[in-house]
Amino acid sequence: MAIQKVEKVAVIGAGAMGSQIAMVSALAGFRTALYDVAAEMLDKADASLRGHMENRVKKGRLTQQQVDEAFARLSYEKDLASAVRDADFVIEAVVEKLDVKRAVFRQLDELAPPHAILATNSSTIVSSKIADATKRPDKVCNFHFFNPALVMELVEVVRNPQTSDDTVETAYWLAERFGKAPIILNREISGFVANRILGALMDEAVWLYEQGIASFEDIDKAVTKGLNHPIGPFALMDLTGIDVNYLVRMQRYRESGDPKDAPRPSIVEKVAKGELGRKTGKGWYTYS
Ligand SMILES: NC(=O)c1ccc[n+]([C@@H]2O[C@H](COP(=O)([O-])OP(=O)(O)OC[C@H]3O[C@@H](n4cnc5c(N)ncnc54)[C@H](O)[C@@H]3O)[C@@H](O)[C@H]2O)c1
Repeated sequence: MAIQKVEKVAVIGAGAMGSQIAMVSALAGFRTALYDVAAEMLDKADASLRGHMENRVKKGRLTQQQVDEAFARLSYEKDLASAVRDADFVIEAVVEKLDVKRAVFRQLDELAPPHAILATNSSTIVSSKIADATKRPDKVCNFHFFNPALVMELVEVVRNPQTSDDTVETAYWLAERFGKAPIILNREISGFVANRILGALMDEAVWLYEQGIASFEDIDKAVTKGLNHPIGPFALMDLTGIDVNYLVRMQRYRESGDPKDAPRPSIVEKVAKGELGRKTGKGWYTYS
């Protein structure tokens, strides 16, 4: 297996995902640069990561020395060129907008060494929509973490038609070195694997509810008590935001044109009423 040697990782975008992905990388022993266009996001990332690490030390999961060494490997960069100049593997985790991602990849292609792999953490934008912004489409793939990246183990490595075997193998190897559990998707598909399965579960739950088969509380109970899931589909929708479910389905519907993919009527109704879940105090359940 022709595994590329990765010594330096650069993470672009220091929001919810990028900050934790950078910490995962630094904890795994890689020199890691974290860059964001907004300098205040770097300060916020540092404060949040220090809080998380302090907790882990308190709980005995990490030693103070491990944490200190990880922070010594992690640099916060305000300049993209210095972040990626000597990077072997770049993980883009900027805002979920295609034009922004394409512009970032164009810059990365100019600034990162020619051998560097350029991966995107995007949940919904497949890398074939970005790869042609670079002159190295064979070195571009999706490298999809789950939130929170410090905790969740799955990483989906998704190849686009031009991604080389070496890129896929290196991404898989790196995810394992990160202490994660990678899987490979041989072809691009909207939603990838885990979120498609979750979506199918949620669809079935909403359909059963809309048919009047059972209350949403009882459907959640069936899933937690009968299938041993840690949380039911309705409670989970409240946690992630019912608008997120709506937007994901709208995008899939726009892509496929298949009415089966459109958001379910009860979801449309919740969104119209502004009942989006925990963040608005009411979704399927009411929160105080
Ligand atoms: N939040 C999730 O649950 C989740 C899970 C898996 C994957 N993702 C993917 O991760 C990516 C980031 O999501 P997030 O939730 O961390 O978003 P976020 O809004 O928390 O962070 C995005 C960051 O990107 C920065 N940014 C914007 N434009 C930039 C640019 N041109 N260069 C550098 N930085 C720039 C912003 O300042 C912000 O700090 C998205 O592609 C999303 O699909 C998100």
